[in-house]
Amino acid sequence: MAAIKFGLNGKQQTVDVSPQMPLLWVLRDTLGLTGTKFGCGLGLCGACTVHIDGQATRSCQTQASSIAGKNITTIEGLSPDITHPVQRAWIDVDVPQCGYCQSGQIMSAAALLAKKPSPTDADIDDAMRGNICRCGTYQAIREAIHRAAQYRAAAGGAPIVQAASISVGPTVRPAGGTPPSAASFNWPSDGPPTPNASVGPTVRPAGGTPPSAASFNRPSDGPPTPNASVGPTVRPAGGTPPSAASFNRPSDGPPTPKEGGAQ
Ligand code: FES
Ligand code: FES
Repeated sequence: MAAIKFGLNGKQQTVDVSPQMPLLWVLRDTLGLTGTKFGCGLGLCGACTVHIDGQATRSCQTQASSIAGKNITTIEGLSPDITHPVQRAWIDVDVPQCGYCQSGQIMSAAALLAKKPSPTDADIDDAMRGNICRCGTYQAIREAIHRAAQYRAAAGGAPIVQAASISVGPTVRPAGGTPPSAASFNWPSDGPPTPNASVGPTVRPAGGTPPSAASFNRPSDGPPTPNASVGPTVRPAGGTPPSAASFNRPSDGPPTPKEGGAQ
């Protein structure tokens, strides 16, 4: 455990956590800021995106030790009253479907507009590529980013990343509870991944060893047996047809045909 000091949504914050704890865990479990979402835990989906010193960063891939002295903005701190141009545009365009990916999408969009106030479609596609939306809201996201750029320009180009001073939420660990150990993060045995601000599709280093089945937390009886030959025929050729009893008929046998049945 180590005391780590950093700026969070405009306020100074100190947490006493394992240096290897992912920032995502610090935010959600230690500080109760659950607006940042856990999606893949592998730097692949973007659901956990926050800003670290203004850069869109995957918090699931960022160790707590690396945030000391830095300024972090989460979705809760983007604005105090949902008036950030990106938030306004998201509402006006009605972007979210299920909503799960959207805080990460908004944080990536806000970081993009802070760098490029008038992004092209290509700029948007490039910046948002790492944010996955299983509901397929990509067209609406692109429209909303263009609209946010207009809102920002109309407001005189005010700084778009504006950490608000908010009060950090409640600690979700019960008083006197035991803090989670590094082992509880399910890291593979070679330890947590290296923080990676420029998240891309490849997370395993070249030549690295693929994860074992055990690392997926399978139950102790191991992975399921592959079964590729599933098909419609279950009775072997020449096999005995099932008895009436095997259809779970009541003990008094099959039903009697109704009189005056189908006409
Ligand atoms: S949870 Fe998917 S990138 Fe972090
Ligand atoms: S809105 Fe459902 S995953 Fe994006």
